Order: sequence, then C-alpha cells, then structure tokens
Amino acid sequence: MYPFFRPILFRSHPEVIHDKTISLLKWIGNSRFLFSVLGKLFRTSTDPIQLFGLTFPNRVGLAAGFDKKGEAIRGLESLGFGHIEIGTVTAQPQAGNPKPRIFRLVDDRALINSMGFPSPGAEAVVQNLRAGIPSKSVLGVNIGKNQATPLDQVEGDYIRLVEVFAGLADYIAVNISSPNTVGLRKLQSKIYLERLLKAIHTRRNELDKLSGKSTPVLVKLSPDLTDIELNEALDAILSAGMDGVIATNTTTDRTGLRSSSGTEGGGLSGAPLAELSTEMVKKITEWTGGSLPVIGVGGIMSVEDVSRKLEAGASLLQIYTGLVYKGPFFVRDLIKGIRG
Ligand SMILES: Cc1cc2nc3c(=O)[nH]c(=O)nc-3n(C[C@H](O)[C@H](O)[C@H](O)COP(=O)(O)O)c2cc1C
Repeated sequence: MYPFFRPILFRSHPEVIHDKTISLLKWIGNSRFLFSVLGKLFRTSTDPIQLFGLTFPNRVGLAAGFDKKGEAIRGLESLGFGHIEIGTVTAQPQAGNPKPRIFRLVDDRALINSMGFPSPGAEAVVQNLRAGIPSKSVLGVNIGKNQATPLDQVEGDYIRLVEVFAGLADYIAVNISSPNTVGLRKLQSKIYLERLLKAIHTRRNELDKLSGKSTPVLVKLSPDLTDIELNEALDAILSAGMDGVIATNTTTDRTGLRSSSGTEGGGLSGAPLAELSTEMVKKITEWTGGSLPVIGVGGIMSVEDVSRKLEAGASLLQIYTGLVYKGPFFVRDLIKGIRG
C-alpha cells in the first residue's frame, strides 16, 4: 500500500507531512480502540533484549528528531518500536532554523535537514510526557544545547536537562553531534567532552541516589569524526563512565549524491549514510573491546542493512529516514527479518 501512497505524500513539503503524521499518531495514541487495532496490524513479538539495565521489547527503535516534543509516543509504540527516542529537547524554547529545512533526495533515498533543534523547551515536553496514556516502549530523551548558549557555558544547559528528565526517561541521550547548531560538534573534542560528561555523570549519580532509580546516559556521535577525534571522544566517554554510544547522527559529507537537492546545507541521512555509520559502529566496538554498548543508526533501509550493523557490533538499532521511504510496516518487517 505505502509505495502507492508515497508519491502522493511526497507532493507536499516534508515538514507539512511530518506535522500531519505526528497529529495522526497523537490521535491514534489517545484512542484505546485505534491503538489496539493498529497494534495488531503492525506489531510483532520477539525475544526481549536486556541492555543498560532496561528491557527492550525488540531491537528496533525510533531515532531522535521524529517526535521532538514527545507528543506521539503511544502512537509510535503502535507501529511496533521497541524504544522511542524523543527530542532533541533544549532547556529553553527555541524556534530552530528558518524553513524550508527538510529536503527529500528521492533518487538517493535520503533526506537533508537543517532543523537546528526547534523545541518547545524542557518544561513543555515534561507536560507532554505527563499527559495522555503512558507507553510501554522504552523512552529515551535526547538533549541538546540552546543555540544562544555559548560553548563554555553548555554544562548548565545539559545539567538542567538531566535534572528535568532523569526521573521521566528510561535513558538520556546527550546530543553533541548535530551539524545544524553552530559549534555543537566541537563538544566532541576532548577538552569540552571530558568536562561536560563528568559533570553529567556526577549529577546523574546524585539524582539516582535520591530517586533509587538508575538512568543510563548515552552519547550520540557524528559519523564525520576522524580516527583521532573518535579515539579521543571514546576515551572521554569511557573515563566519564557513560553507559553507551549512539552511532551515528547525520553527515555533512555529500559524496556520490545524484539528487539536485544534494547541495542543500545540513545533515544528510538515509541510504548514503549507511556505510559510514556502520564503519563507525565497527570502530567503536573494536576499539572499546565491546565494553561500550552501541545503538546503530544511519541509513537502515533493509534487513540487510540491519544485519551489517549487528555484525559490526550494534546491540540495538534506530531508524528515521527508512520510515519515511518505506512506511509504517517497515518496523515490523525489520523485526521479523532479525528474528529470521
Ligand atoms: C528531519 C530530521 C531531524 C533530525 N533531528 C534530530 C535531532 O533533533 N536530534 C538528533 O540527535 N538527531 C536528529 N536526527 C538524526 C537521526 O536521529 C539519525 O541519527 C539520522 O537521521 C540517521 O538515521 P537515518 O539514516 O535512519 O535517518 C534527525 C534526522 C532527520 C532526518
């Protein structure tokens, strides 16, 4: 069905369709009847996975950026996702970059986005999470700095976000790798990263002690790091006692694209990113001796792409662009494909 509808959907601007999809998923999530009908259609059972002290119903999750405000979590659960990462959420509300800021590269099965973290701010997201029927999927909250926050003051933003979400999220993802917030990716360098992650780790431990609940913290990395940069980032991540890594965010690389929109600025996702991000998963697994669990994300468009990420060492997977091109049955197909 989806290959038939896709060209019709693709006639409208990507962000317009995206907003409509979120509204639809929100509606589905709030209706016990629709949730149950769609759940029967889209969901499939498989052995759960234990990781970071959490139980994931399956290996396939939704990558950050799709549900930035945390308003459609239960609707997304009905599509079969084992975990859903909302955000990126910023401490204060901000509009993000001017539109248009999402482009389809149909010939490349890719997207370019320059969203720049549009976010209603932490407090509004908390209200969204408290409203509606709770979801059974594992919930990740991806956090980032406000555009206006200077790099030498980012700790304040991230600590505030950890304080707000430690009690609500099953895990927190520290985003220091989006290419659309000026200077953000510099936080991956040793001088910034060690200080930032140690501060997050200390605060997280204090909060865990108070609540008696432990909240794993993962770090999301860019696929554009050189080997030296990746090595330094991993040192900082390990020495700060982080629980895992999400590899990877979007790339600024534009090698081999065919679509005319390939020249747009921003981060590239989808098929052209697959090899680059799988290579990162492999390096991270090898260099850390498998001691740092990896969520593999980037260019998963088929079951074969999933197999490559798992072979490279990923424990869990996330998708975004694949969902746009393959439609809602894609989640179920991937889970079935992994199960064999
Ligand atoms: C429109 C769009 C918005 C995104 N926004 C975010 C974001 O806010 N935070 C983040 O960490 N990643 C964001 N991403 C990156 C995805 O989470 C993912 O890492 C990347 O798209 C690679 O996966 P894919 O090839 O399956 O799309 C975004 C991606 C897209 C396409």
